[in-house]
Amino acid sequence: MDDLALSVRTARPEDAADLARIYIESWQDTYAGVISHTLLGAMSPRTHTTRWQATIRTMEKHSGTVLVAEDARFGAVGLCSLGKARDGGCGYDGEVYTLYVDPAFLGRGAGRALLTGAFEAFKDRKLRSCLIWAHAQNNACFFYEAMGGRRVATRTTRLLGELTPEIGFGWKRLAARKPARPMQSRSDQS
Ligand SMILES: CC(C)(COP(=O)(O)OP(=O)(O)OC[C@H]1O[C@@H](n2cnc3c(N)ncnc32)[C@H](O)[C@@H]1OP(=O)(O)O)[C@@H](O)C(=O)NCCC(=O)NCCS
Repeated sequence: MDDLALSVRTARPEDAADLARIYIESWQDTYAGVISHTLLGAMSPRTHTTRWQATIRTMEKHSGTVLVAEDARFGAVGLCSLGKARDGGCGYDGEVYTLYVDPAFLGRGAGRALLTGAFEAFKDRKLRSCLIWAHAQNNACFFYEAMGGRRVATRTTRLLGELTPEIGFGWKRLAARKPARPMQSRSDQS
């Protein structure tokens, strides 16, 4: 499989439809068996496009932002939203609220590129530490550990109305990590 030629940038309102597609496909892939089929099937591209447009427009006002990872050939392949930590933050300044990679592009470096971009965005906003909540049974827990996160908290929350155990992963002192995979395509390399 070719490497992706990944870049990460701030999302624009016109990215909202792509973000909605990635978000819905990722939820349907990740939470099948955890959240009811009916609820997952009812996720509407139109509704989520409107929500992402609003999120992109309002996040910057609240020290937050939405990032999009894109590949030169395939376009948008992942998204991430972040800002000040909510609910007291367990002693952490910043929080990644959402991080989703298109299921067709998992394991190809987009998650790492987005989290690295998020850490840089926190530093730009003088937010020095990061917390991320993940469903306790989600494989993303292994990703966060691979990225240096430590299990620092647990809670029970509602996910589309259903009680869900979550683990909080923390990074106390943010240091940007270089993506493991090259950011340029093979054809760009001499
Ligand atoms: C979790 C997620 C964002 C990771 O993104 P990704 O693009 O698949 O991950 P990457 O390819 O960037 O992997 C980065 C590192 O994490 C490791 N990793 C990723 N997924 C892993 C898994 N399921 N188990 C173990 N390690 C994993 C990789 O091996 C890699 O380490 P390496 O570079 O040392 O080899 C992505 O899998 C995803 O969107 N999952 C579904 C949605 C989700 O659960 N989001 C999080 C909600 S809290």
